[in-house]
Amino acid sequence: MHPRPDPDNRWQILVADDDPAAIALLKAVLSGLDVTITGAETGAEALEIVRTRPPGLVLLDLIMPDVRGLELLDQIIQTSPETDVILITAHYSTDSAVEAVQRGAFDYLTKPISIDKLRQKIIAWTEQKQKRTAAHELESKLVEISQCEGLLGMSPAMMEVFNRMQRIAPHYSTALVTGETGTGKEVLARVLHQLSPVSDGPFVVCNCAALPESLFESELFGHIRGAYTGAVDTKKGLLESADGGTLFLDEIAEVPMAMQAKLLRVLQNRQFQRIGDPTARKVTVRIICATHRNLRTMVDERLFREDLYYRLAHVELRLPRLVDRQDDLRLLVHHFLTKFGDQFGKPGLTLSRAAKALAWRYPWPGNVRELENSLNYCAMMCRGNVINIEDFPESISQYKVDGGRSVTFTDDEDMVSLEEVERRYVQQVLDRVQGNRTKAAEILGIGRATLYRILGRGRADADPEPAPRKSRQSA
Ligand SMILES: Nc1ncnc2c1ncn2[C@@H]1O[C@H](COP(=O)(O)OP(=O)(O)OP(=O)(O)O)[C@@H](O)[C@H]1O
Ligand SMILES: [Mg+2]
Repeated sequence: MHPRPDPDNRWQILVADDDPAAIALLKAVLSGLDVTITGAETGAEALEIVRTRPPGLVLLDLIMPDVRGLELLDQIIQTSPETDVILITAHYSTDSAVEAVQRGAFDYLTKPISIDKLRQKIIAWTEQKQKRTAAHELESKLVEISQCEGLLGMSPAMMEVFNRMQRIAPHYSTALVTGETGTGKEVLARVLHQLSPVSDGPFVVCNCAALPESLFESELFGHIRGAYTGAVDTKKGLLESADGGTLFLDEIAEVPMAMQAKLLRVLQNRQFQRIGDPTARKVTVRIICATHRNLRTMVDERLFREDLYYRLAHVELRLPRLVDRQDDLRLLVHHFLTKFGDQFGKPGLTLSRAAKALAWRYPWPGNVRELENSLNYCAMMCRGNVINIEDFPESISQYKVDGGRSVTFTDDEDMVSLEEVERRYVQQVLDRVQGNRTKAAEILGIGRATLYRILGRGRADADPEPAPRKSRQSA
C-alpha cells in the first residue's frame, strides 16, 4: 500500500513518541497546517498504523520503550518504503545522524525542537512530497504510455505507428507490416491482433520463407488423404487453423509467383480448397502480412503480382529503422538492461559512459533485434553491473564512425553515471537540511571541500566558493 494524501489532499503524519504529552504538544504545534496528525505511543502501535494506513511522514522519537528507534526506523521503511521518517532525538551526534540518513531516514531533528523550525520543515516536506508524488506518477505514466502491449516506443515516428495501429485495429481485414530486419514487425503483428476484435481467437504464424514451393499450398490450405504421394492423412492447413483469429504471413515477398494467385483469391473472398478436395471452403480470418523487402520494386521487376500488391498495400504499417528513433534507443536500452540484469542476477545493470556513447553512435543495422542480442551478450560478459565497451561483441566494440561523421551524444536522465547519482544524493541531503552545508557535510561524513566538489560536478554554475583539490578518500 502506498501512502496517499486524503481526498482533501491532506497528508497523514504519524507522531511516534512514548510520551503522550510530547504527542499532544506536536499535535498542537502542527495544528493549522494542511496535514492530519495521528499518534502512537509504542513501536508496535506505530508499525500497525504504517502497515494498515501508511502515513506520508513519521516523526519518530529515537528512544521508544519496546524497540530501539533505529530498528523501528528499519521496520517502517521496510513496511512502507514510500513513507518518510524524520528522527527526533534528545542528543545530537553526527554518528547517529549519519547512521539515520544512511538507513534511509528523511531527516534528523534534535530536542528541544524549535516550533518555528518544525512548522517550516513540515511545510517544506509537504511541498516536496507533493512534487515527488507528481514526478513518480509521471514516470510510471511514461513507461505505461511508451508501450503498446509490449511494443515499446516514444519517438515521434513510433507514436505515429501506434496512432495508426489503434485506428486500424478495430476494422482491418488485411494489413501489411513493413520495415527493415529486426524492427519489430512480428511484435507489431501480434499487437495488432491483440487490439483487434478477434484477440480471443488464434494467432497463427506462417513463415513463407521457410516453406519450399512444393509444400506451400498444402501447408496453407491443407489436403485430403491420398491427394498426393505422402498425403497419408487428411490435414487442415494453417488458414483453417486461424479461423476466427489472425493468420500472420511472414516474409510475404518470398511466396512463389504461382502461389500468389491463390493467395489473392483468399484475400479477396476468404475462399480456398484443400488439395484434392473440390469443395470451396470459407474462413473468417484476419490476415497480416510482413516483409523487409520493397514490394513496389518487386512489382516493377515482375517478381510480385501487382494485383496482390495493391490488395496488401491498402493498409500498410511501416516500422522506422532504429537509427531513426533515437528517443526509443534510450527506452529500449533501459528495458533490455532491466530484463537481462534480472536474468543474470545483475540488478541495476547500466552502461558505462563510454559504452553509452558507443551505443549511440553505432548504426544498429540489425535494429532492435541486434540491440537486444548485443545487450544480452554484454549482460553475460560484464563483471559487476556496469557494461563497458569491451563487453560488446567485437563487431560493435571495434566500430569506427566512417567519414569522420561527428556524433553528438545525448545524455539522458534514465541512466545517470555513478557520479551523478552521488551528486543528487548530496543535493538531497543538502535540501533536507535547508541548505546548511556544514550540517550536510556532517551528516554525509565528508569534508566541506568534498561536498563543494561533488555539488560542482556537471554544473556550469559550479559553487563559487573555492574548493581545494583533495581526493575523496582523504576528505
Ligand atoms: N518496439 C519494440 N519494443 C520491444 N521489443 C522490440 C521492439 N521491436 C522489436 N523488439 C524485439 O526485437 C526482436 C525482433 O523483433 P521482430 O522479430 O518483431 O522483428 P522483425 O521486424 O520481424 O525482424 P525480421 O525482419 O528479421 O523478421 C524481438 O525479440 C522483439 O521482441
Ligand atoms: Mg520477423
